[in-house]
Amino acid sequence: MKSASVLFVCLGNICRSPTAEAVFRAQVKAAGLADEIQIDSAGTGDWHIGKAPDHRAQTAGLERGFDLSALRARLVTSEDFSRHQWIIAMDENNLRDLKKLAPPTHEKKISLLLDYAQQSTANKNVPDPYHGNMADFHRVLDLVEDACQGLLAHIQQELY
Ligand code: 4NP
Repeated sequence: MKSASVLFVCLGNICRSPTAEAVFRAQVKAAGLADEIQIDSAGTGDWHIGKAPDHRAQTAGLERGFDLSALRARLVTSEDFSRHQWIIAMDENNLRDLKKLAPPTHEKKISLLLDYAQQSTANKNVPDPYHGNMADFHRVLDLVEDACQGLLAHIQQELY
């Protein structure tokens, strides 16, 4: 079977994309594909490089069985565009920033997480919870859990 590599990208790499990384890792493991699908996350902004995920994201994740504690924020690099087959933006700002950074040959690897949503959503953005409250972090998890299942189904179709 072929292998795949997925990078989740948000602004700070401390709230949404580490949440998506942990959720997707658990879903991929449950599907028995941990050896086939590589998973990482990164940010387009440099304020939190080296930091663990926001404690609110860690708390909300743990409540649903997702442990984010080992993750550390980093910036998107030029190598990410060649290394990963799927580069998944959390919102349209991340998408625009990624398209500016991407070599033209790799631009078509970039998509929005909510392009893979199974439930209908108001728009294509996973809302930035950084200036919000715990309910906003739970909403991120609702959206991420649903869309990551859709992304996994999509990648499984491509792999087999
Ligand atoms: P994230 O959330 O992009 O989901 O990690 C944010 C984290 C930090 C900031 C903005 C968004 N910030 O401005 O520092």
